[in-house]
Amino acid sequence: MNKDLLTLYYTLDNIDESARQFWEALHNYSVFAFSGDMGAGKTTFIHHLCDYLKVQDVVSSPTFALINEYHFTGPDSTDKTIYHLDWYRLKDGAEAISAGMEDCLDMAGKGTAFCFIEWPEKAIYLLNPPYLWINIEPVSITQRIMTIKEVR
Ligand SMILES: Nc1ncnc2c1ncn2[C@@H]1O[C@H](COP(=O)(O)OP(=O)(O)O)[C@@H](O)[C@H]1O
Ligand SMILES: [Mg+2]
Repeated sequence: MNKDLLTLYYTLDNIDESARQFWEALHNYSVFAFSGDMGAGKTTFIHHLCDYLKVQDVVSSPTFALINEYHFTGPDSTDKTIYHLDWYRLKDGAEAISAGMEDCLDMAGKGTAFCFIEWPEKAIYLLNPPYLWINIEPVSITQRIMTIKEVR
């Protein structure tokens, strides 16, 4: 059963406050699947979330590299790893595995990394519950609605 956890409405003017609320509510999860059409705002939200976490690495769309790796310092003062994955160009599961997607998900499953995934529907069978399904949709040119479900 999927459980609705949170709904956020935001514009670029208050996206940082939404990123803060998002992380306060959801930091105990490790796999975050960001669904939404091209231009919905997946990369933009991940960017602001990484800013909130004080990631020092350059946060950009991993469309060409497929996997970006970022680091931040957790509240327990240890180094935390984020894998920012983009599955848009994946053709099949074999390609996903050879690109290292499973390794990233394994680490998230063990609690040693976070995975932020764009275009999760391209290889949804790689995801093992529990994970978060985050849908972003435009309400207007400037406003987005984000709905967050826990998949178990
Ligand atoms: N509230 C908002 N949240 C996110 N992006 C917004 C918002 N309002 C306008 N935008 C614009 O929409 C675009 C979203 O692009 P991007 O984050 O790359 O989308 P995606 O990764 O989903 O393809 C950006 O040009 C951004 O400036
Ligand atoms: Mg993107």
